[in-house]
Amino acid sequence: MAMNTPLTKLLGCDYPIIQTAMGWVADARLVAATSNAGGLGFLAGAVMSPEEVEESVLAIKAATDKPFGVNFHMYVNGASDIVDICCKHGVKAVSYSRSPRAALVEKLKAAGIVCIPTVGAAKHAVKAVSLGADAVVVQGGEGGGHTGSVASTILLPQVLDSVDVPVVACGGFKDGRGLAAALAMGASGIAMGTRFLMTQESPVPTNTKECYVGASPDQIVVSKKLDGLPQRMIFNACLKDLEATSQLGMWWLAVKNGLAFANMTQTSLLDMLKSAWKISRTGDISMAQTMMAANAPMMIQEAMVRGHPTQGILPSGQVAGVIKDLPDVATLIHAIVTEAQQSAQHLQQIMQEQ
Ligand SMILES: Cc1cc2nc3c(=O)[nH]c(=O)nc-3n(C[C@H](O)[C@H](O)[C@H](O)COP(=O)(O)O)c2cc1C
Repeated sequence: MAMNTPLTKLLGCDYPIIQTAMGWVADARLVAATSNAGGLGFLAGAVMSPEEVEESVLAIKAATDKPFGVNFHMYVNGASDIVDICCKHGVKAVSYSRSPRAALVEKLKAAGIVCIPTVGAAKHAVKAVSLGADAVVVQGGEGGGHTGSVASTILLPQVLDSVDVPVVACGGFKDGRGLAAALAMGASGIAMGTRFLMTQESPVPTNTKECYVGASPDQIVVSKKLDGLPQRMIFNACLKDLEATSQLGMWWLAVKNGLAFANMTQTSLLDMLKSAWKISRTGDISMAQTMMAANAPMMIQEAMVRGHPTQGILPSGQVAGVIKDLPDVATLIHAIVTEAQQSAQHLQQIMQEQ
């Protein structure tokens, strides 16, 4: 059974369920599996060169004829190449977060691509909509990776009251009860990262996935150590070492990771410095924070790609603490939709009884 919300209409998918982009995790296979199951998957383009984004887009198109999206950073040099790739291959939607660029949003919209940024505060939702966003994903503090401090239950109604585009609830969702609750609050759907990381199709090595299954909610903490911005992750040996590292040590790490990131995304170090300077002038984040931005992707890669969960960072939503299985994506989405329908019926019964 399909579900109809403003989000499914906008994205052309069967269910109002988004698989968010996660660096090193949301690859072509996971995205295609999500879209084939009736949700909408976003490719993690922020840790790819434009060439890799194009290869992955073609791989997704070979695996599904359903709509899907691409996530990328608008402040990096390759951003306009990625926009061109999305336009050329008819990608349905794009997502982005920090420092959106009005010219790129305009170009995407002119090509009919849905722009759906992730925000962590009501004022950012208002700004994103003023720059042309067609919908917003609102991530509460429970969410994985870079995150805010306000819980989804507080933030969602605040954003719903602030903007007049479809709003997608994100941060802490994993099941049909959550989907029904978000819809009841007025959201047009849910977006989930961690729940999709913990699936069969997710490319994360088994030993790293086991750390997620074994984590308890109180082990999933927020730290600013990596790049000065709050990030939610599983507390492990690597984070313990980082917390004890001096500021000088963190700068050395930033230089090492910056060089590796520049090499990976085919950007020169000079261009990275120029982008950092430009972003810091927008006032969104400081120059120091931007310079440290490469720490997160490079240290996440250690755990997510190389399979060394104690030597790398494990970004995670708090919800991993209550997820104990690794289903395939089709089974997961089917279970979420079925449970949401049961929850809605239950709610309807209660209302009638009153
Ligand atoms: C391992 C991991 C990597 C992530 N990488 C990115 C990323 O590259 N770009 C991005 O916009 N968000 C990233 N995020 C945030 C997610 O897209 C999503 O907003 C968040 O996981 C939602 O919260 P949840 O985990 O409670 O569902 C990442 C999250 C995780 C857990």
